[in-house]
Parts: sequence; C-alpha cells; structure tokens
Amino acid sequence: MSVYEINLHEAIYSLSDALDLVGVTHIHHGKRVAYMATECGKRMGWQGARLDDLFQAAILHDCGVSRTVVHAQLAQFEWEKEADHCKIGAELLASCSLLHHLATTILHHHTHWSELARLDFPDEVKLAANCIYMVDRVDVLSLGVMSEGKDILLGKQEVRTRIAEKRGSWFHPDLVDAFLAVSGSDAFWLRLDSDNVDGYLATWLAHSSKREMRFNELKCLVKIFSHIVDAKSPFTRQHSDGVASLARYIGGLFELPKKNCEMLELAGFLHDLGKLRVPDELLEKPGRLTEAESTVMRRHSFDTYSVLKNVKGLETIALWAAEHHERVNGAGYPYQLSNGQLSLEARIIAVADVFQALAQQRPYRASLPPDEILRLLKEQVAGNRLDGAIVAQVEANLGACWQAAMPA
Ligand SMILES: [Fe+2]
Ligand SMILES: [Fe+2]
Ligand SMILES: [Fe+2]
Repeated sequence: MSVYEINLHEAIYSLSDALDLVGVTHIHHGKRVAYMATECGKRMGWQGARLDDLFQAAILHDCGVSRTVVHAQLAQFEWEKEADHCKIGAELLASCSLLHHLATTILHHHTHWSELARLDFPDEVKLAANCIYMVDRVDVLSLGVMSEGKDILLGKQEVRTRIAEKRGSWFHPDLVDAFLAVSGSDAFWLRLDSDNVDGYLATWLAHSSKREMRFNELKCLVKIFSHIVDAKSPFTRQHSDGVASLARYIGGLFELPKKNCEMLELAGFLHDLGKLRVPDELLEKPGRLTEAESTVMRRHSFDTYSVLKNVKGLETIALWAAEHHERVNGAGYPYQLSNGQLSLEARIIAVADVFQALAQQRPYRASLPPDEILRLLKEQVAGNRLDGAIVAQVEANLGACWQAAMPA
C-alpha cells in the first residue's frame, strides 16, 4: 500500500477552508473559534496534545453543516435543532481513524455545562466541548455587534457581559474566567479580523510536521470532505463516492500504476469540493440555470483547487480534481485546457463524473439506465468533448462501470 507524506494540521486547516465556503460570505468562523479556544485553553494551563486536540476540534466543530440554509442559522445565539449538526459532525469524525477521538467533543459543542456536568465521559473532553461552545457564542455575538455597524472594540464589553451571565449555567465557571482574562485586551479582538486570524493559525501550522499516512488513513480523511459535499443535497448523495470508485476502476482498465489508481480515487472524492459554496437552491433547482446562476455554479471546480492546493502532498490530486470540467476540445472550464494539456487521469475523472451524474436522479430528470448513459457519452465523444478511448473502455465494461458508479 502506498504511503503519502501529509501534514495533518495542514489537511485539517484546508478542511476548514472547505467549510468556510458554505458560509458564502460569512467566513472564517471555524478559524476564529479555533483561535479563541486555543487562547482560553492556554489560560486554563492546557498544553501539548490536549491543546492540539482542542485546536483541531475547534476548527472543525461545524463540519456537520454543508447546507447554506443551515449555515445561516449558525449566526443565531440559540436555535432550534442545533443538536442536529453536532450529531452529523460527530458521526463524520467518528468514521475516520485519525479524528475519531474528537467526535465526543464535537457532539457536545452546543451542550450547556449544567447538563454536560452530569454526563459520563472524561472531564477533559467535557471542558474542551464547553470551551468551543463558549467561544463559538463569542463569535456569534461579535458578528452581531459588527452587523449593527459598531466597531468590535466598542462592543467587546457587551459580549463579555453576555458570556459572564452564563457562568455556571451554560459554561464552566473556570472557562468563563479564562475567557474574561484573555479577552480584556484590544489585541484579542483585533485578532479576529481575517488577516490576523490567518497569521495566528499559520504559526500553528508551522510548528506541526509532516507525517506519513497510509492510503487508507488518507482515504478516510478525504472521505470526510466528500461526505460534507455530498450531504449538501439529497440528489448528490454518494456522487463523489461513485465518481471515486468509477475513476479508480477505469484507471485499472488502462493498467495505470497502483498509486495513480489510488490517487484517481482520492481525486474523485474531492472533485466537487468547491460545490460547498454553491447555494442549496441552485443545486436543487428543478429547471435550467440562468446565465448568472451558471456562472456561480461553474466556479466550483476552481474553488476545489483553491482549497486543495495548500495541502502539500496533494498537489497532483488537486489538479486532476480541478480539471474535471475541462473538455478535450478546450470548451470546458475553468482553465480552458484542451486535449494535449490534459492528463489521462483528468480525462478519466471527467468521464466518471458525467457517467455518475447521469446514473443519478436530478431535480430535472430521472436516473438514466446504462445504455442511455453510453449513448450520451458517445454523443460527447462525437462533439470532441470527452475522450473516445476512455468511453470505448467504458462501453466494453459497461456493467462493471455501472456497479462502480452506483455503490450499494
Ligand atoms: Fe459554530
Ligand atoms: Fe463538478
Ligand atoms: Fe461531480
């Protein structure tokens, strides 16, 4: 099995960039929460692995949110059904061996301390969850202040008072005291600004090092990304999974080296990451998109690249993923590359993407049977859009391709 050199912190940081896309314009929430949680944690005297875990859980705490409508609710101080996204996020992390130890923290990042205190799991985890809850509310309150057009330095006392009012009920008294201690300075609040918070987090990334990951570890990490994307709409459930397994299968038909086949699978999981930025109503629109809507939709493959390019070790995968809407005749997007410039792998993902999408139901049409999919693929070959040799392989192995694209 191949080994990949990846910096886990860097990968998680990019995962938070992907989650930021869901916010559309309300971005960097996870990053600000990670920064504030870390400051409070340090004040509590936490260090080493405990602080690293807090940071990772904090930056990912809203990974259960992939729909833009749900994201809009995060900005309220309290809302109905807030436990749903905690549960989805916890399940997501529990499925990955590298992150499953953070699942309980995520599960309880909206649980009041009065209730948490009575639950039966380690205090360390309870405090981490409660710390994230507290600073998450700080972020929401500060956004509220700023949305009224007030400077955060003028509103900071109001936020501190609101948090202090929940001392002992919503939040552990020691956590509130730690927050009040670290948030006394102007600098604490000025660091919430995007550029400053990025700088703060970059220092964290710098102190962590690359580690070797086996393919299966990397795959489960990458699947977290793809599950977040596919959860955006009931129509796209398992789309990325299907593209991943079909692309890998086609790579095998071309006798590509095993590592390339694995990378094809990973690129398949990641190809639509940029769709996190597309508003739900566009993905679920029953009719044709207007020109303006298409423009919003079309930027997703470029956004996929923007998120992935920062993870060292994933550069090639990022490229293949970003090129899934390029076409052989140069009429695709976003780079308008043409045949000679497109790798075989990028062309394979393009075919796998079209195949899987046609096999699934869409708001504007039913799912299509294999022979109908093949007919449409051949039409695309005739128009010099998809690669003829790849579609010929698909034709020769149609049943197996269908099975790969539609995992049970
Ligand atoms: Fe949050
Ligand atoms: Fe796409
Ligand atoms: Fe896709």
